[in-house]
Amino acid sequence: METIVKIQDVKKVYGKKNEKKTEALKGISFEVNKGEFIGIMGASGSGKSTLLNLLSTLDNPTEGNILINQKDVSTLKGNRLADFRGKEIGFIFQDFNLLENLTAAENIAVPLSLQGVKPKIIKREVQKIAQRLSIDHILDSYPTAISGGQKQRVAAARALVTQPTILLGDEPTGALDSKSAKDLLDTMEELNREDQVSILLVTHDPLSASYCQRILFIKDGVIYQQIQRGEKNREIFYRDILSALGNLEQ
Ligand SMILES: Nc1ncnc2c1ncn2[C@@H]1O[C@H](COP(=O)(O)OP(=O)(O)OP(=O)(O)O)[C@@H](O)[C@H]1O
Ligand SMILES: [Mg+2]
Repeated sequence: METIVKIQDVKKVYGKKNEKKTEALKGISFEVNKGEFIGIMGASGSGKSTLLNLLSTLDNPTEGNILINQKDVSTLKGNRLADFRGKEIGFIFQDFNLLENLTAAENIAVPLSLQGVKPKIIKREVQKIAQRLSIDHILDSYPTAISGGQKQRVAAARALVTQPTILLGDEPTGALDSKSAKDLLDTMEELNREDQVSILLVTHDPLSASYCQRILFIKDGVIYQQIQRGEKNREIFYRDILSALGNLEQ
């Protein structure tokens, strides 16, 4: 199996010299194989977003290594890092992060424009991913004129238009109503199953987590437990997750 992400004994301490120190991650190691759909769960403050920020190369670990597609990301700086991030990593956040003065199509096109891709190819790729996410009918709309669920689909299309190595999501369903959340999760599951998109999803929500194949539970900056869905259906896996969360609280 092809390993696309390798996290080796990663530690993260916040706070500069003479400031109060917070040890957010205390030695995390795991690997992501191509085509996996992994969930990260844990209480508030356990280090989930910290881990995702390191994986998305927006921040550096204090210790340890992160390899994405065999590349140690700490060796990249400036433009080369931005370029690598743009090509290899897609992210979706709770609050969509769309640019309000651009249409849906223009928002989706941003990462390709930044890479200097030709307009004709951009148009084709935007159409393709919009169709995949069932948002081709709202491509000319501005973010203020579409629903939360549609906004998150636009954000997902923007994250996927570059065909990144991995899609990272930090509570992407957090601001959605339950129907839109379920629709987005169904789509993510489909993209994972049919197009082998590798996904890492941070979530508080056991139902969202039940869509994943493997779940890592973080507590106080370390991986406390892992569970695998295997051949189980979602309902049974959901119950496994609840019971793992129960154990976590003790
Ligand atoms: N920029 C920062 N500076 C200092 N401390 C930080 C910073 N970001 C996070 N922390 C601290 O690091 C720890 C982990 O935070 P993190 O945001 O990773 O938690 P989380 O698991 O994502 O929580 P939540 O579920 O509430 O989003 C917390 O104690 C937090 O206060
Ligand atoms: Mg967080």
